[in-house]
Amino acid sequence: MAEKAKDKVIGKILFSQEDITKRAKEIGKQIDKDFEGEEIIFLGTLKGSVPWLVDVMKHTTVDSKLDFITASSYGSSTTSSGVVKITYEPQINMYNKNVIIVEDIIDTGNTLKYLMAKLQERGPKTIKICSMLNKESRRVADLHADYVGFEVDDLFVIGYGLDFDQKFRGLPYISYLEEDDVDSL
Ligand code: IMP
Ligand code: MG
Repeated sequence: MAEKAKDKVIGKILFSQEDITKRAKEIGKQIDKDFEGEEIIFLGTLKGSVPWLVDVMKHTTVDSKLDFITASSYGSSTTSSGVVKITYEPQINMYNKNVIIVEDIIDTGNTLKYLMAKLQERGPKTIKICSMLNKESRRVADLHADYVGFEVDDLFVIGYGLDFDQKFRGLPYISYLEEDDVDSL
C-alpha cells in the first residue's frame, strides 16, 4: 500500500539521469576552463546537493578540494524565510581560495544570499554558485548563479538529492510532487 501512495504523488520525470549527467559534464568542462591553472574548493550544501556535486566534480580536472556546509532555514516547510542558521561550518581554509558553492536548487535565493555574506567573511579569492536547478520566477534575493543545470517552473521538485520531508532524495531523476497529494504523504 505504501508503494502505491508513493507512486501516486511523484509526477513525471522532468530530468532523467542521462539529462543530468550530460549537463554536469558540460558544467564540469566550463569550470575547468574558468579555473585553468587554479585550485578550487567545492563547497556542497548538505544534504540535497550531494548527487549533483558528485556528478559535477567528477567531470572536472582542475585541482580541487571538497567540504560541506549545512544551513537550516526557518519558516514554513516549502518556502525559506531568509532566517538561516549554519549547523555545520566548513573546516577548510578558504582564505584567498576559489570557492564554488554547490546547491541543489535556488528558489527565493534567501539561503544562498545569507551563506554568501557569511562566507565572504573568510576572505576567499572568489565565490561562485553552481546549482542543479534554478526557479528564477520565485527569486526574491538579488542573487546570480554562475553555473545552472536546469531552469524549472514553480513546482515542488523532488529527487536527485531534493527532498520533501526528507523523502525522495534517492530518486535517480528529478520529478515533482503532484500538488493535491502532498498532504496525504
Ligand atoms: P531558497 O532560500 O528559497 O532559495 O531555498 C533554498 C532551499 O530550499 C533549497 O536549497 C532547498 O533545500 C529548498 N527548496 C526550495 N525549493 C524546493 C523544491 O522545489 N524542492 C525541494 N526543496 C526545495
Ligand atoms: Mg538546499
